[in-house]
Amino acid sequence: LPPHNGSIGVFDSGIGGLSVANAICGLLPRDSLLYVSDNHHAPYGARTDREVLAFSRQITDFLLSAGVKLVVVACNTATSIAIDGLREAYPDVPFVGLEPAVKPAADGRHIGVMATAVTLRSSRYQSLKERYLTDRPVWESPCTGLVERIEAFGAGSPAVRDYLAELFREADSLDTVVLGCTHYPLVIEDIRAALPPGVNVIDPSGAAARQVQRLLEKRGLLVSEPTDPARYDFYCTGGSAPLQRTLHALPALNTGRRWVVPYLG
Ligand code: SIN
Repeated sequence: LPPHNGSIGVFDSGIGGLSVANAICGLLPRDSLLYVSDNHHAPYGARTDREVLAFSRQITDFLLSAGVKLVVVACNTATSIAIDGLREAYPDVPFVGLEPAVKPAADGRHIGVMATAVTLRSSRYQSLKERYLTDRPVWESPCTGLVERIEAFGAGSPAVRDYLAELFREADSLDTVVLGCTHYPLVIEDIRAALPPGVNVIDPSGAAARQVQRLLEKRGLLVSEPTDPARYDFYCTGGSAPLQRTLHALPALNTGRRWVVPYLG
C-alpha cells in the first residue's frame, strides 16, 4: 500500500462513491485521495445491518492505517447504518456521510426518493422525512437491482435505461427526485431522460464535497502548498472493470495517476 498520510479516504460498496470523489477532487485539486470500492460485498442494500457495520469498520481501519485525515462514507446505506458507530469508535477522525437530500427537496410537491431498502427503513432517513416532508405523500423506491446494473453495465446502457423507464412509468407526476444512493448520480443523465422534462433531480455530491472542505478548513487540514502532485489510488475487493470504466468518464478523476488493485478479495 502506498503511503497516504494526509489524503482524503473515501469508500463505497462499489463505484457509486466515485460520484462524490469526483466532486471532492474537482473542488480540492491539491488533495490526494484513497478510494475503496467494496464490490465483493455489494450491494450493501441487500445486506444485514450487522454486515454493513462490519464491512464499514474494516474499510475504515484500512483507510486509517494508510494515514488518511478524513473519511467519506460515500454510500448512503453505510452512512445510515454505520456512521454513528464509526464516529464513536474514532472520535478524533472527521467523517462525512451521505444522506438522502430530503431538506433541499422540501420545495417540491410530488417528491420521489430513490434509495436502497436499508436506507429507506433506517431511522436516520425516517427522521429526516418526519422533519421535512410530513405534510405530503412521498414516493419511495428501493430500486432493487439498479445498483447491480450500474456496476455491471454503466451509464447509458440499455440495462439501466430500460430499468429506469419501467421504474418511472408508475410515477410520472413527480416534480422532484432525490438521489439517495451514490450510484445514482453516475446515471443522472439516464434518470433525467426517463423523467418528464423539468423534474428537479437532486444530486448530493456537490454538497458532500463542500462539507469535506468545511471540515478540513475548520481543523486546519486543507493542503495549501503541495510538495507533490495529488495522487489518486483506487482499490477494489472484487473485479476492477467497473472502476476502470467509470474512472474514464469522470473528469476530475481521469488523470492517469491511478492504480486499481484488488486488496481484500
Ligand atoms: C448498495 O450497495 O446497495 C448501494 C449503496 C448506497 O446506498 O449508496
